[in-house]
Amino acid sequence: MDSIKDFSLGIIGLGTVGTATIKLLEEQLVNITKKSGKNIIIKAISARDISKPRGININKYDWEESPIKLTEREDIDAIVELIGGSDGLAKELAYSAIENNKYFITANKALIAKHGYDLNFRISNKTVQIYYEAAVAGAIPVINGIKDGLVANNILEIYGILNGTCNYILSDMTNNGKTFEESLAKAQELGFAEADPSFDIEGIDSAQKLVILGLLAFGIEPDLNKVYVEGITSISAEDIKYTNRLGYKIKLLCIAKLVENKLDFRVHPVLCTSESITAGIGGALNAIFIKGDYSKEITFIGEGAGAEPTASSVVSDIINAARSSKSVNNINLLNSNYEYINIMSRKGKYYLRFIVKDVSGVLASITSILNEHSISLDSVIQDGNKGEDTQFIIILTHLCDELDIINAIKKIDNLETIINKSYLIRVENI
Ligand code: HSE
Repeated sequence: MDSIKDFSLGIIGLGTVGTATIKLLEEQLVNITKKSGKNIIIKAISARDISKPRGININKYDWEESPIKLTEREDIDAIVELIGGSDGLAKELAYSAIENNKYFITANKALIAKHGYDLNFRISNKTVQIYYEAAVAGAIPVINGIKDGLVANNILEIYGILNGTCNYILSDMTNNGKTFEESLAKAQELGFAEADPSFDIEGIDSAQKLVILGLLAFGIEPDLNKVYVEGITSISAEDIKYTNRLGYKIKLLCIAKLVENKLDFRVHPVLCTSESITAGIGGALNAIFIKGDYSKEITFIGEGAGAEPTASSVVSDIINAARSSKSVNNINLLNSNYEYINIMSRKGKYYLRFIVKDVSGVLASITSILNEHSISLDSVIQDGNKGEDTQFIIILTHLCDELDIINAIKKIDNLETIINKSYLIRVENI
């Protein structure tokens, strides 16, 4: 019988995910060997600081000062990059690994969102492959789901809750009455948030993950600058209260659709009905709904952030790389790009929040401007603001054009009775 071959790793980055990856590889070594058919060996590691306490024994591995050298070593088959960042060292490692015929495994969404198309293009005539399951939705095997499980389909649309931090914040504000700041601090403590949490709460992290799914589903070269991105920083405790009262929950939703040969890619808060599956996705969970022409709708739900769920995907990629006998790239890359749809052409229902002076006629002045713009109303809440001379006016519209809403809000914001800039949330039927 042939002896089992080695598959040697160079791991770069020993933060929480890097450490959890090593732990998982060590704990599951026997199973992993059986499942991959190779001896997976951690040959060398590299990180910024050798002496940082990590709760694992790294002395048994070769320490390499220069991460780039790992990509050039003859005795390494795969580079596992867990440092992050769209450019700089992470990018250098990716290109050098491919150049040197090493498998490249990463959890780095910023890198793949920016350079994933080109990296996929570069491996098309190589024997190696790139893997980035951990870059989108933590433990959920959505990348493999699209690349392999759904490969027979044309993907028609993808909806997703792709940021654990935002979902945690919105759930915590809804279920436990916490403020935005309290919930964000807790998400940071639990290790979901990025080093710079503005990437999470401004929607950038979600948009990066969305364009990676877009690359896989539609073969396009993603352009983050053309994606409409709005985070959750303007959502207040009152919005949570009033949307609940109207029978909705607020979620930060990612949408990727191909509509009449144009890309409808966007990230923004949405209202979804309290009975929907989307509304039930709580805590740091992620969910992805994919519609294929033959598969119909598929739903993935699971842990979208945290060291162990992410390590689960990194190690799955390592095992898949070790098994691989790649001959084709399984993304059908397109040479031409589609145009992106402008958010202004959206048609839908809207939740509108106005904070106004508590004087007579204020509601009438708002509704008459909405009426001038052909916006008809579904529900109205007028509610006093305790101890203040102000009130909240909450309006849920019927179906209307985004352009009309934006123009109406601009006029309303000029009214002398308006105290704060008005805020809208789109309602999505998901
Ligand atoms: N900060 C990310 C999140 C981590 O909260 O989803 C996983 O990518």
